[in-house]
Amino acid sequence: MIDHMFGKITLSIIKPDAVKKGYVVPILSQIVQSGFHILAIKMTELSKQSAKKFYSEHKKKSFFESLITFMSSGPIVSIILEKENAVKDFRILIGDTNPIHAKKGTIRNLYASSLEKNAIHGSDSNQNAFKECFFYFSNREIFLKS
Ligand code: CMP
Repeated sequence: MIDHMFGKITLSIIKPDAVKKGYVVPILSQIVQSGFHILAIKMTELSKQSAKKFYSEHKKKSFFESLITFMSSGPIVSIILEKENAVKDFRILIGDTNPIHAKKGTIRNLYASSLEKNAIHGSDSNQNAFKECFFYFSNREIFLKS
């Protein structure tokens, strides 16, 4: 179990736009160089049904259908990252949801092309981080540092 990791982990997704453009390695390098440890990683694809489940909190939003189509349009890379203050620090590293407003040098500033196709996801709270980690991974797929 990873209960003792509460507050120290976050879930990231390298989204279909960034995978298609060949940005997986540069993005992972930037993440690791910023002090995050990879506890679990997989390349996978979301069915429309899984995407709807993952983004259910947005189901009333005008962009929901388009978001689901985009997120199930190709491979993604889901990653569990560990660091002190993981959620907060990772959101600083990826930058604003809208790449137009993302600070220079942040991942979205460097690799995102639009508000929807914004290259990467980071959990927005410690509670959601745990929920999202177990959406993509089972306990057996999570490797803690020894
Ligand atoms: P993220 O914060 O990772 O998860 C929700 C996603 O919905 C967000 O990234 C964007 O990809 C997308 N999103 C958020 N707001 C909008 C919007 N106004 N229009 C289109 N897509 C959006």
